[in-house]
Amino acid sequence: MCSLNSLFANNRAWSAQCVASEADYFTRLAHQQAPRFLWIGCSDSRVPANEILGLQPGEVFVHRNLANLVVHSDLNCLSVLQYAVETLKVEHVMVVGHYGCGGIQAVTERRSVGLADNWLRHVEDIAQKHDERLSDVCHDTERGARLCELNVIEQVANVCRTTILRRAWYRGQRIEVHGLVYGLADGLLRRVGVSVNGTNTWTERYQASLQSLDLPKSED
Ligand code: CO
Repeated sequence: MCSLNSLFANNRAWSAQCVASEADYFTRLAHQQAPRFLWIGCSDSRVPANEILGLQPGEVFVHRNLANLVVHSDLNCLSVLQYAVETLKVEHVMVVGHYGCGGIQAVTERRSVGLADNWLRHVEDIAQKHDERLSDVCHDTERGARLCELNVIEQVANVCRTTILRRAWYRGQRIEVHGLVYGLADGLLRRVGVSVNGTNTWTERYQASLQSLDLPKSED
């Protein structure tokens, strides 16, 4: 079994490097954080928010769980969302899925992963809701990719439907909600569906997002 010693060594080196590049780096961060972005992503170890966005500590507020879900009764996620919107006043909420997501693949392959089956039941519900969109995709991997995208669109809708976002937009707070998918194979983020900024109803944007997914994919 490996020990944590190498991690402490890494940490000391990282801390020293930060101070070498900016003497008051930690003093400044200790006093305040002012992130403009909230990242709601998957717990997958290959999808680290800060690195992918090229952002430093203090620049992105992060919530991660299996398959990047926003469940209406999940106080953990809702508390993060509320703190981000009402206290930190982030300007952008990003729901970030990723291709090759183990949670999504488990659903498409109808494979049990234990207790987490109950959590992933939310993804299964989405798969059933969009059965027609998924049934014409034969290969498991491709169906998983399509379900990743549909899941992101549904989670964006869930964010928009919370009392937190609805009240924020009612107050006139400027905040946008975006759906993104990260490619493990190329390290790139792609937009999924359309962003919601509160001036259009989220239901219109939700329908537009699904329609954009139904269009043949253009190479970019
Ligand atoms: Co994942």
